[in-house]
Formats: sequence, C-alpha cells, structure tokens
Amino acid sequence: MELLTDVTVFKHRLWGFEYADRMEEWFNGLKQAPIRIDAELHTRCNLNCRMCGRRDSNYEKLTEEQRKNIELSAKKWIKIAEESGKMGVRTWNISGLCEPLVKPEVLFPTMKMIKAYNMFGELTTNGSLWNENFVKDTVEMGWNSVCISIDSADPKIHNYLRGAEGVFKKATRTLKMFSDLKKKFEVELPVLTINVVLNKLNYQKLDEIIDMCYNLGGDAVFVEPIVIFGKEGEELKMSEKEIDKFQNHLKEVKEKSENYGIVLDVTAVAPGKAFSGEKRFDESLIRKTGNIKDLLISEAKNYSDRILSIPCYYPWFFLMIRGDGNIIHCGEWKEKEENIRNKNLGEVWFGETFSNIRESFTRGDLSDFCERCRPNVIEDTRIVRKSIMEFRNIDFLRRKYIEFLEENKRVKQELYRLKREGIENGRCVNCIYKKEIEKFKNSLTFKTFSKFWNTPIEKKLKKVLNV
Ligand SMILES: C[S@@+](CC[C@H](N)C(=O)[O-])C[C@H]1O[C@@H](n2cnc3c(N)ncnc32)[C@H](O)[C@@H]1O
Ligand code: SF4
Ligand code: SF4
Repeated sequence: MELLTDVTVFKHRLWGFEYADRMEEWFNGLKQAPIRIDAELHTRCNLNCRMCGRRDSNYEKLTEEQRKNIELSAKKWIKIAEESGKMGVRTWNISGLCEPLVKPEVLFPTMKMIKAYNMFGELTTNGSLWNENFVKDTVEMGWNSVCISIDSADPKIHNYLRGAEGVFKKATRTLKMFSDLKKKFEVELPVLTINVVLNKLNYQKLDEIIDMCYNLGGDAVFVEPIVIFGKEGEELKMSEKEIDKFQNHLKEVKEKSENYGIVLDVTAVAPGKAFSGEKRFDESLIRKTGNIKDLLISEAKNYSDRILSIPCYYPWFFLMIRGDGNIIHCGEWKEKEENIRNKNLGEVWFGETFSNIRESFTRGDLSDFCERCRPNVIEDTRIVRKSIMEFRNIDFLRRKYIEFLEENKRVKQELYRLKREGIENGRCVNCIYKKEIEKFKNSLTFKTFSKFWNTPIEKKLKKVLNV
C-alpha cells in the first residue's frame, strides 16, 4: 500500500486548490481574505544570532521608548486575529525578526484567538524562553505547529551561531518538554519541527540533527539555506564545493530520517546552485542568476488569460504584519506600505495601496524590488498557475477528489486495523507498514489532510463535482 507521505507535495496539492479557487473568486468580483498572515508580534529579541536579518534592520537600535511607540498592543493583535478569523484567513505564521516569547502577554492571547477561529497556527521560536506553563498552554489550545530553531546537534556550534552560552540546552529542553507533554496528554499537536539554518558549520552533520530530533521526540526537520545579511553571515556562507559535498551527505540524511519516520524538508538554495534533495531549479533559472523578476515576467507572458498572465500572486494571498504595524504582502517589498495601527484588517487588505499593487501586477508589472525576490516564489507561482488550470478541468478535479477520498479511507482503515491488532504503547508492532504509518501519523500531511475535510473548499468541490 502506498501512503501519502510527502508533506510538501500534499501541501501544494491542498493549497494549490485553495489558491486557484480564491483567484477565480477575486476575478469574479468577490473579494477574498488573505490565505496566510505572517506576524512579527514586536521588535524584540533576547539573542543576537550571527546570521539573523535583525542585523540588517534598525530593530537593535531602537530605544525602549521608541519600541513602545511603534509596537502594537496585545489588544490590537487579538482584534486582528479575531477579524482575520471572521474574514476567512486559513493560517497564521508567528515569526519575523523577533523572538515571540519575549512578549508572552501578547503571544498567548493572540494564539488563543487564532485557535478560537480554528485557523492553522504555526510559531517559530529560538526555544530559550519557554517554561512548563507556556508549553502546557500551547498544547492545550491545540496549536498546530511549533518550530524550534536548533542549528546543530553540537552545543558549541549552536551556541556560537546564536551568540550566547546555554541556548542549546534551553532549546533542546523546550523541545523535550513539548514531546513529553504530548505523550502524557496523548495528543498529536503541535507538530514539532527543528528549523535548521544551513551553513558552513553544520552542513556535514545534518544526520546528527536527525538523531537529535528523534531522541527529543520531534516530528520534522526543516532545513533552510542561510540568507546572507552582513559580514557575519558572509563568513558562514557555503562554497560551491561544500554545496556539492552537502548533496552527497543529503542522501544519507534522507535515509536516516525515513528510517526514523522524521519528515525532512530541505528548501532549495539561491539561484545559480540548487541542492535540495527533491527540487532542482531548471536551466532557465540558473542562466538568469539573480534576476527572478525577469523570469517571473517572461513566464507570465506565455499566457494570455488574465489570471494566468499575472507574474506574482502574493498580493492576493499573503499578508505580513511587521513589529511596527507596517503591513505588506511580501518581505522583499520596500515600496509604500500601510500601517494597521489605526485601521482594521479589512480596510488595509481591501484598501487603496493593496488594490493598486494588484492592479499593477494584473497588468504584468512588478516592482524593481522584485529583482531581489526569493527563488521559491518561482515555484510558488508555477504551482498556483498549474492549480488554476487544473481547477478549471472538471475531469481532472473529479479524479483527484476521488483519489483523495480513497486514500483517506485506506489510511483510516489501516490505522484502525493497527489500533485493533498491532499497537503497543502507541507504536505499531509486527506490521509491514510500521515505518510508513509512523511517518504518516507524525507528518504534517496527516494533520493537513484532516483539516481538508469539512471546509468550505471541500463543500464547493463536492458541489462542483457532484460527488
Ligand atoms: C528570524 S527567526 C525568528 C524566530 C525566532 N527568533 C527564531 O530564531 O526561531 C525565524 C527563522 O529564521 C531563521 N533564520 C535566521 N537567520 C536566518 C538566515 N540568515 N537565513 C535563513 N534563515 C534564518 C531562524 O533560525 C528561524 O528559524
Ligand atoms: S533568535 Fe531569531 S530573531 Fe533573534 S536574533 Fe536569533 S534568529 Fe534572529
Ligand atoms: S518580491 Fe517576489 S514575492 Fe514579492 S512581490 Fe515581488 S515578485 Fe512577488
């Protein structure tokens, strides 16, 4: 039996449909909420990591007085979360250039409101400021995903990268507190991911991070190549030779993660050189090193349809709220921004600034800043376009939907069977699918899969497909 285990593929499938649906609705005159909100709750951090983009921002230079003046209050964040739930936002990602736990009085009530509207909640943290109560609160509210940044299984390297002694111990302790409590409460959420910033000091020992993840009870390892900000980041950059070596190491790492049932996701690297295990950029991207804007525009020009010919879909789906209340659709955008301090979410999202951006993108124009766009946007754009085309193809949709139903049924049956006959202490024994089932149960796919049911998109699909 083949189980659906590839998280990335599944997410793309699911979100692909959601994107396609929302784009069609927008162009039918029905304004849509963003799908995802990225939230930087404030401007503060207790660390000063060598590679972090904070070093490239003015956050470190702000006085306490200035911070107080620009940061949004807990009340405002809760209101934004509530409004977003009512509008139809699907997912929140709390991260940004800060450590969310520096302000628990803002973080936890906001998270609770996000969950009150049953949105998918993800949070990224350096793991150094958690206590048992915070962990318990997070587990009890059914928060979906906690990503703890641990860049090496060697405490010395992690502490060096993070610029402080003892951080490794605290971060690993937090991960263990989460997995222990999940076991105690017999719950599957939150999914626990170790986030790794890939660099010169850790690329050869990713296998040790997989061991560590398994030993601490984590579910997934997410590896993102270092984005260079400043001199310290430059020193951590991998050479071409090191990137090649990493490619080989990755095979071993993948095998290990599969054996443990740990989901491994490695993001592709900057244009010019790709080293993801799954994804490789095509020749056109490699030749156009550094100028993603041109590539996005030239791909869009292959289509005459008004939706398919849009070079970037971010202003229709994403919203980023910065620590100073500034609000925009993508981190690279440096043109006119709105501020949400004295407005509500709807006023900003449907307001003049965003409408103008959407209009200009619909004409096929992008900003000069888009030259600095991230390579994964190319892939995102292709996925949205492909999904729109698929979504318009009823036969294709019908087939996919029935496949989904069958697959879900098979998985459920298998899990029930295991429950009946083969489970000891929550783990299946003597089972030929043991590895796959474990992997699947621990994967984001499983959670995302279950989230798919009873959603407006499912109802719509059923209606369209007459199933
Ligand atoms: C900026 S941090 C904010 C959340 C939290 N303070 C933390 O460190 O996890 C968000 C994520 O970006 C990662 N990160 C930091 N600097 C990076 C860089 N130069 N390139 C890629 N990822 C980076 C962090 O490790 C973390 O997983
Ligand atoms: S803890 Fe996170 S936000 Fe703070 S400096 Fe490190 S990477 Fe940046
Ligand atoms: S920088 Fe990239 S993601 Fe942002 S608006 Fe431009 S093309 Fe879109």
